[in-house]
Amino acid sequence: MMFLDTHQPKADALVLFGATGDLARRKLFPALYHLERTGALDVPVIGVARSDWSDEAFCEHARDAIITAEPHADAAVIDPLMRRLDLIQGDYAEAATWNSLRDTLDRHSSSNAVFYMAIPPTMFPEVAGRLASVGLNERGRIVVEKPFGRDLESARQLNMTLHTVFPEERIFRIDHYLGKESVEDLLVFRFSNTMLEPIWNRRYVRSVQITMSETIGVEGRGSFYDSVGAIRDVLQNHLLQVVSLLAMEPPAGSDPQFLQDEKAKVIAAMTPIDPTRLVRGQYVGYRDEPGVADDSTVETYVAAQLTIDSWRWAGVPWFVRVGKGLADAATEAVIEFHSPPRMLFDEAGGPPPGRNLVRLRLGKRDGVTFTLQAKTPGPHMDSQDIAVSVDFAAALGERSEAYERLLGDALGGSPRRFARQDVVEQTWRVIQPVLDDPGPVHPYFRGTWGPAEAERLLATGDHWFDPSN
Ligand code: BG6
Repeated sequence: MMFLDTHQPKADALVLFGATGDLARRKLFPALYHLERTGALDVPVIGVARSDWSDEAFCEHARDAIITAEPHADAAVIDPLMRRLDLIQGDYAEAATWNSLRDTLDRHSSSNAVFYMAIPPTMFPEVAGRLASVGLNERGRIVVEKPFGRDLESARQLNMTLHTVFPEERIFRIDHYLGKESVEDLLVFRFSNTMLEPIWNRRYVRSVQITMSETIGVEGRGSFYDSVGAIRDVLQNHLLQVVSLLAMEPPAGSDPQFLQDEKAKVIAAMTPIDPTRLVRGQYVGYRDEPGVADDSTVETYVAAQLTIDSWRWAGVPWFVRVGKGLADAATEAVIEFHSPPRMLFDEAGGPPPGRNLVRLRLGKRDGVTFTLQAKTPGPHMDSQDIAVSVDFAAALGERSEAYERLLGDALGGSPRRFARQDVVEQTWRVIQPVLDDPGPVHPYFRGTWGPAEAERLLATGDHWFDPSN
């Protein structure tokens, strides 16, 4: 299925709030480099930051960020990108900063900018209000980073505040998982392969497990991370977006709003998470990370059971787990099918054959693996697991990074890979009970699969599938 775009006019400038910060360094400058390389970037890039840096220092910082991410970056691409950069240094609370931004945009004859908020979420309302104070809300759209709010109430409040300044169609809420080709492929996989649809439901699916595991810790983001934790950092957004794509009904048509409608419907059918069906963990050593409180009870790991009370999924448990400092880095959704009604091929009396699985790898080595049964060679009628697997990069070629695609979409005026207000509010509704009643946090050692308590979420005899990449 092809989703058409309800395009807005192309932007004529990019304003980066938080231009000297961590997100800009790790993701946005490398993304701008790729956009410049492909010719997709043709607007001035105006950084705004409190850091008292010269233009040269800012360019050096940007160049360094690009080379760190892309050691073989091409100087013939970096140089023109550097010529696009401007830095406005100033306090966000001072009128002079905003006048200077407006003057700079005037100088570039900009009437339709992208205002990218690579700043702490607590600053979104102030920055939106300040943009309005100099009339810039009439001259562009905003891109806001996740987490969008801290809970259902604050997300609603933030939506209301932003709506006083920008209409919904000019608010682009980033969830970078929606910019990943592998995540977008879930739609193509499900709705372009007719053999899957008849079995993609409670009659055939026994359970679904989604793992998003990272080996890294909080990597210098301790003070940000300690104010959010894994539930707000990734479960509320990345993971629930992936669940919605795996569980939703087919969209009614190709307009992107139909896709958002189906996501909203399936998340609305989710029961708020039962706090007794959620396990939080914290890796040993987390409290020693810079910026983290000595007595922090913030989780770096969470595992939970989700319930989707719909005709398609009633009775099928959905398990999700995410964590930092784990044994392997992977993002994988495993759809587990029911066993055959009778076991016919077990002559040698070995362990029972495994169930069919569809493993959708969404991380670095994305692809799909079907775990099927085939006859074990030899005189007996026995079966064993075989994997039928494809690696998408090998089969289809390399694809672009999420931030490159999303920045390109924001500049080009395409909202289709961004999150809609009602979908975001529904995700907060689902996790609200565990924000109110988070329960204990269990320690786990780095390099493991997290606290043993997570096993008790599963049915007796079941286990979490180790990611296959
Ligand atoms: C970010 C989280 O949104 O996603 C990080 O804030 C996390 O904590 C990151 O590390 C993971 O993204 P990816 O693309 O590496 O899976």
